[in-house]
Amino acid sequence: MPSVERARDAEPLYELPYLPYKEDALEPFISAETLAYHYGKHHKAYVDRVNQLVQNTKFAGLPLQALILRVGNDADYTELFNNAAQAWNHTFYWHSLTPDRGSRIPAELEQRITASFGSVSAFRDQFVKAAVERFGSGWAWLVLDGDALKIVTTTNAQNPLLARNKPLLTIDVWEHAYYLDYQNRRAEYARAVVESLLNWNFALGNLHRD
Ligand code: FE2
Repeated sequence: MPSVERARDAEPLYELPYLPYKEDALEPFISAETLAYHYGKHHKAYVDRVNQLVQNTKFAGLPLQALILRVGNDADYTELFNNAAQAWNHTFYWHSLTPDRGSRIPAELEQRITASFGSVSAFRDQFVKAAVERFGSGWAWLVLDGDALKIVTTTNAQNPLLARNKPLLTIDVWEHAYYLDYQNRRAEYARAVVESLLNWNFALGNLHRD
């Protein structure tokens, strides 16, 4: 996926990456209004804030993922970590979704999912359940942990990178991700994402990325 990296010119800034589809492309499951706020306001705010916070630190110039790993366990940089991780998580989330509803799960992933969860259907149910049961704000992830696929959840801005797990897909379960469309019905939102929007080609690419 395009990363939120520094611009190549003189400005030491991370950039808000383009959405990989139009804001109305995920309708009727996620509305254009939600994407306008979620991408244009929330994601942009995280990128803007990490740019403010990283300036005049010894971390200025680090690629975003390296920055996350560097400050993730440092209590002196909690706000910098939170905003850097949220900038990264949202870019990963946009690419975890696709308007191409007809896309099938690639055979290699289907085999791995069946081996890890019993069946694709069982995986879908477990992914929805994890998203629903994540208390408060956070994320549900499909990750590669060693040789096994696992579903994990993280709170607030946390992500699986610090646990050295390889993320394959994510679902944002902060209320701003679904409240305009589903109000408090997080399960309906999570089910819609899992059944209709997951980008399996992105997951496969992540599986094979070093
Ligand atoms: Fe979000």
